[in-house]
Amino acid sequence: MSNDTPSRSNPPAAGKRKLFIKTYGCQMNVYDSQRMADVLAPQGFTTTDTPDDADMVILNTCHIREKAAEKVFSDLGRLRPLKDDAQTKGGDVMIAVAGCVAQAEGAEITARAPYVDIVLGPQTYHRLPELVARASRARAQSNGREKISVIDTEFPAEPKFDFLPPPRAEGPTAFLSVQEGCDKFCTYCVVPYTRGAEFSRPVADVLREARGLVSAGVREITLLGQNVNAYHGDAEGHITWGLGRLIRALAEIDGLARIRYTTSHPSDMDNDLIAAHGDVPQLMPMLHLPVQSGADRILHEMNRNHTADDYRRVIERLRRHRTDLALSSDFIVGFPGETDAEFAETMNLVREITFAQSYSFKYSKRPGTPAAAMKKQIPDDVSSARLTELQDLLDQQLREFNAASLGRTMDVLLTNPGRLPGQLGGRSPYLQAVHVNAPASLLGHVVPVRITTQESYSLGAELCDAKAD
Ligand code: SAH
Ligand code: SF4
Ligand code: F3S
Repeated sequence: MSNDTPSRSNPPAAGKRKLFIKTYGCQMNVYDSQRMADVLAPQGFTTTDTPDDADMVILNTCHIREKAAEKVFSDLGRLRPLKDDAQTKGGDVMIAVAGCVAQAEGAEITARAPYVDIVLGPQTYHRLPELVARASRARAQSNGREKISVIDTEFPAEPKFDFLPPPRAEGPTAFLSVQEGCDKFCTYCVVPYTRGAEFSRPVADVLREARGLVSAGVREITLLGQNVNAYHGDAEGHITWGLGRLIRALAEIDGLARIRYTTSHPSDMDNDLIAAHGDVPQLMPMLHLPVQSGADRILHEMNRNHTADDYRRVIERLRRHRTDLALSSDFIVGFPGETDAEFAETMNLVREITFAQSYSFKYSKRPGTPAAAMKKQIPDDVSSARLTELQDLLDQQLREFNAASLGRTMDVLLTNPGRLPGQLGGRSPYLQAVHVNAPASLLGHVVPVRITTQESYSLGAELCDAKAD
């Protein structure tokens, strides 16, 4: 975000307003940000990629770790001069804080940053047009006096999905939220409080949205949920479908080349979903399955409801169905009470399973969660040392995984222009970034390539003779 406070022209006519959205956090927030733009489009908002010329700024926030949440307040501080400057010129910039920090800390936001116009949670963004109208009225009525912020952090009975317009496709890949919320209550985690109870969208809605995306040119869909493999959507005939069945139905959609899903919980990997990894060629051989820790006592304290061996067994079964399955995971180091020996168990699990890619974090104490009240919080220098050790190992595994791709032929979905002229960028089945010399006409196609070079975090390739799909 820029610190500049450029001059602004007169307030724009309704119907020609610019919207800047900054997204923090997980893929679901990326999806939500796109949907917020979709909801506001009929109100005349078009998106811009800088806050400097925006009439409305939305910060779509993440509460998962302290750093992420604090960032919002510093970004808000930077937006203030933009708003002040616009107001001196007789205009305004409407500022909205959305997402998980808004849900958890709505009152604190308006206390610390009273110039925020709207605070809305992850379950109420379908009401944005109404919230914008209310905020405009509040502004008009304030007449120089203190203005009241509009806050909507309800968990409404009606699911927002029923009120959203069909999404627009932006390129050949898309996210599709199928499940939201979490009932698992891991002791360190804020998500059950910020996103609310588990909810699955009905099968027919998901299939309709997927067909719409594919007919608009999408080739790869990533199904999203905080616990996506707990999906149990209502289907015709008063039954519910699990994720495996949903994936099989999506695979019937003509033109949909690739399906992924994230994020999963190890205890929700049922037989049908595991079998789908072997049966459904469109389901990509890369699975994000967070384990958090390799030590059973820590997993128990985390309320993860599985042991390290349970995790090993799930992976074994998955690999039996799909021998080339690659894995990624999330890890937390320095959970309260974690000993050196318990951390060593995490390192051993990583050495044993081997991950193609991973995310690892220092435990962050979150207000209101059970782990925040646990004794034996780990000193920061100990957590930092553990994180470095774990990340070195994970990084080495990532580089080895990429090195093993050299010389291999694989299908790449070409998604964007490359860094150099004549090049296109894309992603391998394993989500590796691949660049290849190819004509722009191949954008949006899956093409077989031979991997020829390895850079730090990407691969170079050449087109094979076989035809694109
Ligand atoms: N539902 C998903 C992930 C949700 S949050 C799952 O169960 O795996 C994404 C990741 O953030 C988690 O997997 C965890 O590794 C990390 N995380 C969550 N709360 C955290 C905290 N308090 N401190 C550090 N990392 C945390
Ligand atoms: Fe958080 Fe655990 Fe739910 Fe994942 S499963 S969102 S880590 S409470
Ligand atoms: Fe963050 Fe909320 Fe996602 S806390 S990780 S934005 S669900």
